[in-house]
Amino acid sequence: MKVACTERSRALGARIAGQLGAGLADTTFSRFPDGEIYLRAGPLDDTTVVVGSLLSGDSLVELLLLIDACSGSEIRLVVPYLGYARQDRAFRPGEPVSARAMARALSSGVSRVVTVNVHKETVLSHFTVPASQVNLAPGVGDYIATLGLGEPLILAPDRGAEPFAAAVAARGGWEYDHLEKTRVSGSEVRIEPRNGGAWKGDVVLVDDIISTGGTIATATRMLLGQGARGVHAVCIHGLFAGTALSLLRSAGIGQVAASDTIEGPESRYSAAGPIVQALSR
Ligand code: R5P
Repeated sequence: MKVACTERSRALGARIAGQLGAGLADTTFSRFPDGEIYLRAGPLDDTTVVVGSLLSGDSLVELLLLIDACSGSEIRLVVPYLGYARQDRAFRPGEPVSARAMARALSSGVSRVVTVNVHKETVLSHFTVPASQVNLAPGVGDYIATLGLGEPLILAPDRGAEPFAAAVAARGGWEYDHLEKTRVSGSEVRIEPRNGGAWKGDVVLVDDIISTGGTIATATRMLLGQGARGVHAVCIHGLFAGTALSLLRSAGIGQVAASDTIEGPESRYSAAGPIVQALSR
């Protein structure tokens, strides 16, 4: 078995290979003068685990090319961050179901797909091969335990994320709750406390994705304004689009952490273990 990874999933790919006891395929990437992507992968084995997050148009092209380059072997595809999953239905006439378009494209040539905390589980049904997700909530809980916060409140920024907050909190026997979020625009949200209550201790906001940072920054300002001792944020997929990190800092956030499904300076815990367990099932 070999593991072949796209350019932006190299660290996680290496961790997965290490835990599988598999070799890493050499992959080289370059560009043709017109911007098209060139890659080369090998040598391969009977089975290849292809690892690559779907972050952009280029990363989709890389994944499709890598799958094709590995087509002489059985391919198990790991998409740690499945981008485009938030458009999981046509919200207005004429819109695509983007998640379905991506799932169909990524099903071609692979025997199965594993992803991590997909935005909505229904997205998995769009793959035309067996697809499953792993839940990093226990890993988030284990990471929070390393922060030495004592008895933090684990808080989801909206009702939909509360089951995730509950699973995180279960790891440390902590309290959990959710806030009420109303999205005003792509980058602006309104956040209100649920019971009008205020938490004076440490709060850890947990969410699947931090993108613009608007959700977490707004929640942080509100919680600090109500007297929270400190507010921290741990997500699975740290997109940190544009000025997200400086927005979070200026809101007064303490620790900010994400997994390595999207590799960056805030990647503080790994999805490798749960992914390897899922591949072994
Ligand atoms: C929304 O449903 C997601 O769970 C996240 O809360 C959202 O993607 C965060 O986006 P942003 O960081 O742009 O507020």
